[in-house]
Order: sequence, then structure tokens, then C-alpha cells
Amino acid sequence: MEARNQKNGLLKELEQRIRSAEHPRELVVDVMLALQENCGYLSDDALEEAARLLGMSLLELEELASFYDFIYRRPVGRFVIRVCDSVVCWLEGGEKLGKHLEARLGIRMGETTPDGLFTLLPVCCIGYCDMAPAMLVNRRVYGNLNQEKIDKILEELRTGDERKGLPR
Ligand code: FES
Repeated sequence: MEARNQKNGLLKELEQRIRSAEHPRELVVDVMLALQENCGYLSDDALEEAARLLGMSLLELEELASFYDFIYRRPVGRFVIRVCDSVVCWLEGGEKLGKHLEARLGIRMGETTPDGLFTLLPVCCIGYCDMAPAMLVNRRVYGNLNQEKIDKILEELRTGDERKGLPR
């Protein structure tokens, strides 16, 4: 019941924003992210909702959703770890760190841990080559990584302060 009220509140808020926008289509990513926030990923229902709100076709939204890195069309973990696998990080041992993450989490790249806490994804350069090897957890950057640092980050994400205020 509470979840439904929350969703209705969100839809009303989005409708209002769209109504008062000069170019409603410019809000498309914001709308998809807001709907995603509601259930952790952009489900088919949420995509349809976005299409209805914005007066756009499902195909248009699907194309945008698949283009935009932070929109998930499948369920993901609470923490999405994006490991840079581009050249500078690779030269600095990024591949080994990716393997280390896979071993620590017991999953392969592209998978989510059974407890729903972590999803592991390989990504192209995230723009922090000066801190290589680097990764993102949700939208927070972690650089100059080594195995010890990664173990500490995972531990903090599981139990500690690191999880507080971490944006999705
Ligand atoms: S190559 Fe990894 S952040 Fe640029």
C-alpha cells in the first residue's frame, strides 16, 4: 500500500514537471531515472509509464535507455561496480583487479551476487585515467586501486559507512 502511494506520488510529481516544461522530451532521462529509482531498474511497466508520461514511443525510449549507462533494463544489485577495462587501467593491472573482484564476490562480469548486493560490469574508460586502475561504485569513483583497497571497499560497502549516501 505504501509502495503504491509512493509510486502515485512520484507519477503526479513527474506529470507536473512535464506539464510545466517548455520541452518535455528534454526530461526523458530524468523521468526514466526517477521511475528506475522507484523499483531498482527500469522495468517494462516503468518504460511504458515513461512513454505515456512523455508522449513518446516505446521504441524511442528503449533506444535511449539502452544508450544511457546508468539506466538498467534488468534488475541490478544495490551496488553496481563498473570496472574500467580500457587501456590505461589495463596497463596498470586493471584486468587482475577485475578477476580479484570476481573471486571475492563469487560472480563473473555481468552478474549479480545472490544476495542482490553487488553487480559487476566491465566498462570503457570512465575518465579517471590519472587514477588508474579505477572503478565506479554506482556514481562514486575509486582510483589507484589494488587488491587490499578493493577488499576494504567491499567490506565497507557490506557493513560500513561507505554505503551511506552512495548515489544509485
Ligand atoms: S582507462 Fe581507465 S579510467 Fe581511463
